[in-house]
Amino acid sequence: MSTKAALVATPDQPKRKGRPRRDATTQGSVVTVTPIMPHHISGGFALDVNAVHAGNFIELAASLPDKSVDIIIADPPYNASKGNIWSMQYGTLPGFGGTWQKISEVWDDMPLDKYLAFTLSWLAEAKRLLKPTGSMWVHGTYHNAGITNVAMQMLEIEIINEIIWYKRNSFPNLSGRRLTASHETILWAHRGGKRAYNFNYERSKEGDFSDDQLKAPGKQMRTVWDLPNNKPREEQAFGRHPAQKPVRLARRFIQLSARSGDLCLVPFAGSGSECVAAKQEGLSFIGFETDPAYVKIADRRLNAVGAG
Ligand SMILES: C[S@@+](CC[C@H](N)C(=O)[O-])C[C@H]1O[C@@H](n2cnc3c(N)ncnc32)[C@H](O)[C@@H]1O
Repeated sequence: MSTKAALVATPDQPKRKGRPRRDATTQGSVVTVTPIMPHHISGGFALDVNAVHAGNFIELAASLPDKSVDIIIADPPYNASKGNIWSMQYGTLPGFGGTWQKISEVWDDMPLDKYLAFTLSWLAEAKRLLKPTGSMWVHGTYHNAGITNVAMQMLEIEIINEIIWYKRNSFPNLSGRRLTASHETILWAHRGGKRAYNFNYERSKEGDFSDDQLKAPGKQMRTVWDLPNNKPREEQAFGRHPAQKPVRLARRFIQLSARSGDLCLVPFAGSGSECVAAKQEGLSFIGFETDPAYVKIADRRLNAVGAG
């Protein structure tokens, strides 16, 4: 199902004057940024578009040209599994707990200093790849959203909006020891510097968002979105992912910020929800996922899009 196509970079912007641009590789005094996730591919590979590549985004994406993608939809590991400690000089922090589904996966369990380094590393790569006209949408919860926000500021990636995704059908808190967690955070950002990112303002105002009880027809879209988290049966027909997102969410990102013919990068594809959304919205996409079992699910889902 993949289509070989050259990724074309936009011409380089003039060099910035003044203090040097900060990025993850120049933050040596703060953290050492090295790719830390395992990958399942060795040797050469062809980087096709309209495909989910099995491997580590940070390593594989190094072969893509600067400023070559239009939209990035990133649903990174939230680091909400059991660890959550600073492994070095910072001592320990109390566990987060809560009503979040426990994801006992190695990809979701890093000491916090490593998680910050990982976040800086993938965000630096995302910034390098993103066109000035493009923008990125990054998922999080209170477990990691603060770290993502800090990392973006360190990399001078400008946050456009912080969106609260209100999940009206959240599973109740069974312990009764805390409130029912019923939202996630989404950061919408551009690469920083001159603001040239695309925003489909008229569509955001006039489009059909009737599944959202907080969006008044014809009025400006606000930063609290009421979108159910349930996945229709066809979204899980080929297998499930413990952190699977509903496709409707990524479709909204695309409707708000993409132009026709855009290329959407999905660094952490999981079961492929964001790639499916890109395909349904008529965009090209390129995805990465370390776990081959999820790549298989994503492939099957993508093959079924448009298959009737
Ligand atoms: C939060 S999940 C994404 C779920 C996805 N939104 C969906 O709907 O299925 C994060 C995914 O990133 C993958 N992952 C973790 N580190 C990675 C890396 N460095 N490169 C590519 N994928 C990675 C994990 O295996 C996991 O499937």
